[in-house]
Amino acid sequence: MNFLRFVSAGLGAIAVVASANAAGGALHAHGPEEGWAFEGPLGQLDMESVQRGYQVYREVCASCHSMRMLSYRNLGEPGGPFYDPEYPNANDNPLVKSFAAMDEILDTEPNDVGDYDYRPARTSDTFKAPYPNANAARAANGGALPPDLSVITKARHGGASYIYSLMTGYPSEEAISTVEIEAEVEAPAEGEEAAAPAGPTTETLIDPSRIEALSHGDHHYEGTLVQPVGQYYNPYMAGDTTAQWRGDPRHAPPGGFLAMPPQLTDGRVSYLDGTEATVEQMAKDVANFLQWAGEPKQSQRKSTGLAALIYLVILAVLLWFSFHRIWRKVDH
Ligand code: HEC
Repeated sequence: MNFLRFVSAGLGAIAVVASANAAGGALHAHGPEEGWAFEGPLGQLDMESVQRGYQVYREVCASCHSMRMLSYRNLGEPGGPFYDPEYPNANDNPLVKSFAAMDEILDTEPNDVGDYDYRPARTSDTFKAPYPNANAARAANGGALPPDLSVITKARHGGASYIYSLMTGYPSEEAISTVEIEAEVEAPAEGEEAAAPAGPTTETLIDPSRIEALSHGDHHYEGTLVQPVGQYYNPYMAGDTTAQWRGDPRHAPPGGFLAMPPQLTDGRVSYLDGTEATVEQMAKDVANFLQWAGEPKQSQRKSTGLAALIYLVILAVLLWFSFHRIWRKVDH
Protein backbone atom coordinates (compact mmCIF):
# COMPACT_ATOMS: atom_id res chain seq x y z
CA MET A 1 0.00 0.00 0.00
CA ASN A 2 2.71 2.37 1.04
CA PHE A 3 4.57 1.52 -2.12
CA LEU A 4 1.51 2.31 -4.25
CA ARG A 5 1.16 5.68 -2.56
CA PHE A 6 4.80 6.37 -3.16
CA VAL A 7 4.43 5.55 -6.86
CA SER A 8 1.28 7.65 -7.29
CA ALA A 9 2.89 10.61 -5.50
CA GLY A 10 5.83 10.28 -7.86
CA LEU A 11 3.57 10.18 -10.92
CA GLY A 12 1.68 13.20 -9.61
CA ALA A 13 4.90 15.15 -9.24
CA ILE A 14 5.92 14.25 -12.79
CA ALA A 15 2.54 15.42 -14.10
CA VAL A 16 2.89 18.76 -12.30
CA VAL A 17 6.39 19.30 -13.68
CA ALA A 18 5.26 18.33 -17.18
CA SER A 19 2.32 20.74 -17.14
CA ALA A 20 4.53 23.54 -15.79
CA ASN A 21 6.84 22.93 -18.73
CA ALA A 22 3.96 23.04 -21.17
CA ALA A 23 2.75 26.36 -19.80
CA GLY A 24 5.88 28.41 -20.41
CA GLY A 25 9.54 28.09 -21.26
CA ALA A 26 11.14 27.43 -24.58
CA LEU A 27 10.69 24.84 -27.30
CA HIS A 28 12.56 21.61 -26.74
CA ALA A 29 15.94 21.78 -28.52
CA HIS A 30 16.63 19.25 -31.26
CA GLY A 31 19.63 18.38 -33.42
CA PRO A 32 19.76 17.96 -37.20
CA GLU A 33 17.48 15.29 -38.71
CA GLU A 34 20.28 12.77 -39.15
CA GLY A 35 21.26 13.15 -35.48
CA TRP A 36 24.73 13.64 -34.02
CA ALA A 37 27.64 11.33 -34.82
CA PHE A 38 29.09 11.85 -31.33
CA GLU A 39 26.07 10.53 -29.50
CA GLY A 40 26.17 7.24 -27.62
CA PRO A 41 29.05 5.59 -25.78
CA LEU A 42 30.87 4.73 -29.03
CA GLY A 43 29.91 7.80 -31.05
CA GLN A 44 32.77 9.95 -32.35
CA LEU A 45 32.70 13.55 -33.52
CA ASP A 46 32.39 14.09 -37.24
CA MET A 47 35.77 15.81 -37.59
CA GLU A 48 35.10 17.24 -41.04
CA SER A 49 32.08 18.96 -39.60
CA VAL A 50 34.15 20.23 -36.65
CA GLN A 51 36.66 21.67 -39.16
CA ARG A 52 33.90 23.46 -41.04
CA GLY A 53 32.48 24.60 -37.71
CA TYR A 54 35.79 26.27 -36.89
CA GLN A 55 35.47 28.19 -40.14
CA VAL A 56 31.95 29.30 -39.18
CA TYR A 57 33.14 30.33 -35.73
CA ARG A 58 36.04 32.34 -37.16
CA GLU A 59 34.10 34.00 -39.93
CA VAL A 60 30.80 34.61 -38.15
CA CYS A 61 30.77 34.22 -34.37
CA ALA A 62 34.29 35.39 -33.46
CA SER A 63 33.45 39.01 -34.16
CA CYS A 64 31.32 39.00 -30.99
CA HIS A 65 32.08 35.83 -28.99
CA SER A 66 35.40 34.96 -27.34
CA MET A 67 36.59 31.41 -26.64
CA ARG A 68 39.16 32.14 -23.97
CA MET A 69 39.71 28.57 -22.85
CA LEU A 70 41.04 27.46 -26.22
CA SER A 71 44.50 27.94 -27.68
CA TYR A 72 45.27 27.62 -31.37
CA ARG A 73 47.42 24.57 -30.67
CA ASN A 74 44.39 22.70 -29.27
CA LEU A 75 43.13 22.55 -32.86
CA GLY A 76 46.09 20.37 -33.83
CA GLU A 77 46.34 18.17 -30.74
CA PRO A 78 45.17 14.54 -30.77
CA GLY A 79 41.37 14.64 -30.76
CA GLY A 80 41.44 18.11 -32.35
CA PRO A 81 39.93 18.87 -35.76
CA PHE A 82 43.27 19.61 -37.47
CA TYR A 83 45.35 16.91 -35.80
CA ASP A 84 47.91 15.50 -38.22
CA PRO A 85 49.96 12.46 -37.11
CA GLU A 86 52.86 13.88 -39.10
CA TYR A 87 53.05 16.70 -36.53
CA PRO A 88 52.67 15.09 -33.11
CA ASN A 89 53.56 18.46 -31.62
CA ALA A 90 50.67 20.72 -32.61
CA ASN A 91 52.98 23.76 -32.46
CA ASP A 92 54.70 22.46 -35.62
CA ASN A 93 51.47 21.87 -37.53
CA PRO A 94 51.62 24.36 -40.45
CA LEU A 95 47.83 24.66 -40.68
CA VAL A 96 47.53 25.48 -36.99
CA LYS A 97 50.42 27.94 -37.29
CA SER A 98 48.73 29.70 -40.17
CA PHE A 99 45.40 29.92 -38.30
CA ALA A 100 47.21 31.58 -35.41
CA ALA A 101 49.22 33.91 -37.64
CA MET A 102 46.05 35.19 -39.33
CA ASP A 103 44.98 36.85 -36.05
CA GLU A 104 46.66 39.94 -34.69
CA ILE A 105 46.61 40.20 -30.93
CA LEU A 106 47.86 42.77 -28.46
CA ASP A 107 51.24 41.77 -27.08
CA THR A 108 51.45 41.43 -23.30
CA GLU A 109 55.16 42.27 -23.44
CA PRO A 110 55.98 45.98 -23.88
CA ASN A 111 58.22 47.00 -26.80
CA ASP A 112 61.48 48.98 -26.46
CA VAL A 113 59.73 52.24 -25.70
CA GLY A 114 57.21 50.70 -23.31
CA ASP A 115 54.18 50.54 -25.59
CA TYR A 116 52.11 47.51 -26.33
CA ASP A 117 52.05 46.50 -30.00
CA TYR A 118 49.91 44.13 -31.98
CA ARG A 119 51.60 41.00 -33.24
CA PRO A 120 50.50 37.87 -35.10
CA ALA A 121 49.22 35.25 -32.65
CA ARG A 122 51.30 32.17 -31.88
CA THR A 123 50.00 28.63 -31.51
CA SER A 124 50.32 28.92 -27.72
CA ASP A 125 48.06 32.01 -27.56
CA THR A 126 44.40 31.69 -26.67
CA PHE A 127 41.90 32.44 -29.45
CA LYS A 128 41.78 36.12 -30.25
CA ALA A 129 38.97 37.78 -28.29
CA PRO A 130 36.79 40.33 -30.10
CA TYR A 131 36.69 42.80 -27.20
CA PRO A 132 39.31 43.75 -24.60
CA ASN A 133 36.86 43.30 -21.71
CA ALA A 134 33.23 42.64 -20.80
CA ASN A 135 32.28 46.32 -20.63
CA ALA A 136 33.48 46.92 -24.17
CA ALA A 137 31.57 43.82 -25.30
CA ARG A 138 28.38 45.06 -23.65
CA ALA A 139 28.77 48.56 -25.02
CA ALA A 140 29.08 47.18 -28.55
CA ASN A 141 26.06 44.88 -28.20
CA GLY A 142 23.33 47.13 -26.88
CA GLY A 143 24.11 46.27 -23.26
CA ALA A 144 24.03 42.48 -23.70
CA LEU A 145 27.16 40.42 -23.12
CA PRO A 146 27.88 37.79 -25.79
CA PRO A 147 28.86 34.81 -23.63
CA ASP A 148 32.24 33.13 -24.06
CA LEU A 149 31.61 30.05 -26.19
CA SER A 150 34.40 27.78 -24.83
CA VAL A 151 32.07 25.57 -22.80
CA ILE A 152 28.69 26.78 -24.00
CA THR A 153 27.56 23.23 -24.92
CA LYS A 154 28.08 22.31 -21.26
CA ALA A 155 26.53 25.50 -19.95
CA ARG A 156 23.21 25.26 -21.76
CA HIS A 157 20.57 22.58 -21.39
CA GLY A 158 20.44 20.64 -24.65
CA GLY A 159 24.12 21.22 -25.51
CA ALA A 160 24.89 21.00 -29.22
CA SER A 161 21.19 20.53 -30.03
CA TYR A 162 20.44 23.82 -28.31
CA ILE A 163 23.06 25.63 -30.41
CA TYR A 164 21.62 24.04 -33.55
CA SER A 165 18.03 24.92 -32.62
CA LEU A 166 18.88 28.46 -31.56
CA MET A 167 20.79 29.20 -34.77
CA THR A 168 18.08 27.74 -37.05
CA GLY A 169 15.08 28.77 -34.93
CA TYR A 170 14.78 32.50 -35.66
CA PRO A 171 11.56 33.39 -37.51
CA SER A 172 11.96 33.55 -41.27
CA GLU A 173 11.31 36.77 -43.16
CA GLU A 174 7.70 36.00 -44.02
CA ALA A 175 6.82 35.85 -40.31
CA ILE A 176 8.26 39.33 -39.64
CA SER A 177 6.74 42.64 -40.60
CA THR A 178 7.59 46.21 -39.82
CA VAL A 179 4.73 48.64 -39.43
CA GLU A 180 4.55 52.39 -38.87
CA ILE A 181 3.05 53.41 -35.57
CA GLU A 182 1.19 56.60 -35.06
CA ALA A 183 3.22 58.31 -32.43
CA GLU A 184 1.27 60.38 -30.00
CA VAL A 185 2.57 63.88 -30.36
CA GLU A 186 1.19 66.67 -28.28
CA ALA A 187 -0.45 69.33 -30.37
CA PRO A 188 2.00 72.22 -30.53
CA ALA A 189 1.09 75.39 -28.76
CA GLU A 190 0.51 78.31 -31.07
CA GLY A 191 3.67 79.67 -32.59
CA GLU A 192 5.75 76.62 -31.59
CA GLU A 193 7.05 73.93 -33.84
CA ALA A 194 5.62 70.43 -33.49
CA ALA A 195 7.82 68.29 -31.24
CA ALA A 196 9.44 65.25 -32.82
CA PRO A 197 7.79 62.06 -31.63
CA ALA A 198 9.70 60.40 -28.80
CA GLY A 199 10.82 56.83 -29.28
CA PRO A 200 10.64 54.60 -32.33
CA THR A 201 8.11 55.21 -35.07
CA THR A 202 7.99 51.66 -36.33
CA GLU A 203 7.20 48.35 -34.70
CA THR A 204 8.49 44.93 -35.62
CA LEU A 205 5.71 42.37 -35.49
CA ILE A 206 6.04 38.63 -35.60
CA ASP A 207 3.30 36.26 -36.67
CA PRO A 208 3.95 33.04 -34.73
CA SER A 209 1.58 31.02 -36.90
CA ARG A 210 4.09 31.46 -39.74
CA ILE A 211 7.04 30.14 -37.76
CA GLU A 212 7.72 26.61 -38.87
CA ALA A 213 9.00 25.32 -35.52
CA LEU A 214 5.74 26.47 -33.89
CA SER A 215 3.41 25.06 -36.51
CA HIS A 216 3.96 21.40 -35.53
CA GLY A 217 2.34 20.54 -32.13
CA ASP A 218 -1.34 21.04 -31.22
CA HIS A 219 -0.97 24.66 -30.23
CA HIS A 220 -1.99 27.40 -32.60
CA TYR A 221 -0.77 30.81 -31.74
CA GLU A 222 -3.34 33.35 -32.88
CA GLY A 223 -1.95 36.80 -32.27
CA THR A 224 1.09 38.97 -32.77
CA LEU A 225 4.38 39.29 -30.94
CA VAL A 226 5.83 42.77 -30.69
CA GLN A 227 9.59 42.55 -30.86
CA PRO A 228 11.32 45.00 -28.49
CA VAL A 229 13.91 47.27 -30.12
CA GLY A 230 17.34 45.59 -30.23
CA GLN A 231 15.88 42.22 -29.28
CA TYR A 232 15.10 39.22 -31.43
CA TYR A 233 12.50 36.55 -30.89
CA ASN A 234 13.62 32.93 -30.77
CA PRO A 235 11.31 30.08 -29.70
CA TYR A 236 14.25 28.12 -28.28
CA MET A 237 15.56 30.93 -26.06
CA ALA A 238 14.63 30.62 -22.40
CA GLY A 239 12.35 33.50 -21.50
CA ASP A 240 8.80 34.75 -21.37
CA THR A 241 6.85 36.36 -24.20
CA THR A 242 3.64 37.26 -22.34
CA ALA A 243 4.45 40.96 -22.01
CA GLN A 244 5.02 41.30 -25.79
CA TRP A 245 2.07 39.14 -26.83
CA ARG A 246 -1.06 40.59 -28.40
CA GLY A 247 -3.32 37.57 -28.29
CA ASP A 248 -4.80 35.09 -25.84
CA PRO A 249 -2.64 35.66 -22.72
CA ARG A 250 -2.95 32.01 -21.72
CA HIS A 251 -1.33 30.92 -24.97
CA ALA A 252 1.67 33.16 -25.47
CA PRO A 253 4.23 31.51 -27.78
CA PRO A 254 7.15 29.67 -26.17
CA GLY A 255 10.66 31.09 -26.13
CA GLY A 256 12.00 34.53 -25.48
CA PHE A 257 13.96 37.47 -26.83
CA LEU A 258 17.71 37.85 -27.03
CA ALA A 259 20.06 40.60 -28.13
CA MET A 260 21.74 38.43 -30.79
CA PRO A 261 20.35 39.07 -34.27
CA PRO A 262 19.97 36.02 -36.53
CA GLN A 263 23.48 35.10 -37.71
CA LEU A 264 23.19 32.49 -40.41
CA THR A 265 21.84 32.95 -43.91
CA ASP A 266 22.39 30.56 -46.80
CA GLY A 267 25.89 31.05 -48.22
CA ARG A 268 27.10 33.11 -45.24
CA VAL A 269 30.48 31.32 -45.47
CA SER A 270 32.15 29.67 -48.47
CA TYR A 271 33.32 26.35 -47.16
CA LEU A 272 36.89 25.50 -48.06
CA ASP A 273 35.89 21.86 -48.65
CA GLY A 274 33.11 22.85 -51.07
CA THR A 275 30.20 21.78 -48.85
CA GLU A 276 27.06 23.80 -49.58
CA ALA A 277 26.64 26.34 -46.80
CA THR A 278 22.96 26.11 -45.98
CA VAL A 279 21.75 27.53 -42.66
CA GLU A 280 21.21 23.99 -41.31
CA GLN A 281 24.67 22.89 -42.45
CA MET A 282 26.44 25.84 -40.80
CA ALA A 283 24.38 25.46 -37.60
CA LYS A 284 25.27 21.77 -37.43
CA ASP A 285 28.95 22.41 -38.11
CA VAL A 286 29.33 25.20 -35.58
CA ALA A 287 27.45 23.12 -32.98
CA ASN A 288 29.82 20.20 -33.64
CA PHE A 289 32.77 22.56 -33.28
CA LEU A 290 31.46 23.92 -29.98
CA GLN A 291 30.77 20.37 -28.81
CA TRP A 292 34.41 19.53 -29.48
CA ALA A 293 35.59 22.74 -27.79
CA GLY A 294 33.61 21.97 -24.64
CA GLU A 295 35.39 18.64 -24.30
CA PRO A 296 38.47 18.50 -26.56
CA LYS A 297 39.54 15.08 -25.27
CA GLN A 298 36.15 13.48 -25.83
CA SER A 299 37.25 11.22 -28.72
CA GLN A 300 40.24 9.89 -26.81
CA ARG A 301 38.18 9.34 -23.69
CA LYS A 302 35.74 7.23 -25.68
CA SER A 303 38.46 5.22 -27.47
CA THR A 304 40.20 4.55 -24.14
CA GLY A 305 36.87 3.45 -22.67
CA LEU A 306 36.32 1.06 -25.58
CA ALA A 307 39.84 -0.39 -25.25
CA ALA A 308 39.29 -0.89 -21.51
CA LEU A 309 36.01 -2.70 -22.19
CA ILE A 310 37.57 -5.05 -24.76
CA TYR A 311 40.42 -5.76 -22.34
CA LEU A 312 37.97 -6.58 -19.56
CA VAL A 313 35.96 -8.94 -21.80
CA ILE A 314 39.10 -10.85 -22.85
CA LEU A 315 40.24 -10.97 -19.22
CA ALA A 316 36.84 -12.34 -18.14
CA VAL A 317 36.99 -15.13 -20.73
CA LEU A 318 40.55 -16.08 -19.70
CA LEU A 319 39.58 -16.08 -16.03
CA TRP A 320 36.60 -18.31 -16.78
CA PHE A 321 38.74 -20.93 -18.51
CA SER A 322 41.56 -20.83 -15.95
CA PHE A 323 38.99 -21.20 -13.16
CA HIS A 324 37.70 -24.41 -14.76
CA ARG A 325 41.16 -25.68 -15.38
CA ILE A 326 42.41 -25.10 -11.86
CA TRP A 327 39.35 -26.66 -10.20
CA ARG A 328 38.73 -29.42 -12.70
CA LYS A 329 39.78 -32.23 -10.34
CA VAL A 330 37.70 -31.00 -7.44
CA ASP A 331 34.09 -32.16 -7.06
CA HIS A 332 31.59 -29.41 -6.49
C1 HEC B 1 26.90 40.68 -33.69
C2 HEC B 1 27.39 40.00 -32.55
C3 HEC B 1 27.15 38.49 -32.48
C4 HEC B 1 27.54 37.53 -33.39
C5 HEC B 1 28.25 37.71 -34.71
C6 HEC B 1 27.15 36.26 -32.80
N1 HEC B 1 26.54 36.47 -31.59
FE1 HEC B 1 25.87 35.04 -30.32
N2 HEC B 1 25.27 36.48 -29.00
C7 HEC B 1 25.46 37.82 -29.16
C8 HEC B 1 24.91 38.51 -28.01
C9 HEC B 1 24.92 40.02 -27.80
C10 HEC B 1 24.40 37.52 -27.15
C11 HEC B 1 23.72 37.72 -25.80
C12 HEC B 1 22.23 37.79 -26.06
C13 HEC B 1 21.43 38.09 -24.81
O1 HEC B 1 21.85 37.67 -23.73
O2 HEC B 1 20.38 38.71 -24.97
C14 HEC B 1 24.65 36.25 -27.80
C15 HEC B 1 24.29 35.03 -27.27
C16 HEC B 1 24.62 33.81 -27.83
C17 HEC B 1 24.36 32.52 -27.22
C18 HEC B 1 23.71 32.29 -25.87
C19 HEC B 1 22.23 32.28 -25.91
C20 HEC B 1 21.70 31.95 -24.54
O3 HEC B 1 21.15 30.86 -24.36
O4 HEC B 1 21.90 32.76 -23.62
C21 HEC B 1 24.83 31.56 -28.07
C22 HEC B 1 24.78 30.07 -27.86
C23 HEC B 1 25.37 32.25 -29.21
N3 HEC B 1 25.24 33.61 -29.03
C24 HEC B 1 25.97 31.60 -30.28
C25 HEC B 1 26.48 32.24 -31.38
C26 HEC B 1 27.06 31.55 -32.51
C27 HEC B 1 27.19 30.05 -32.63
C28 HEC B 1 27.43 32.50 -33.38
C29 HEC B 1 28.06 32.30 -34.74
C30 HEC B 1 27.35 31.48 -35.67
C31 HEC B 1 27.11 33.81 -32.81
N4 HEC B 1 26.53 33.60 -31.59
C32 HEC B 1 27.37 35.04 -33.40
C33 HEC B 1 26.05 38.45 -30.23
C34 HEC B 1 26.53 37.82 -31.35
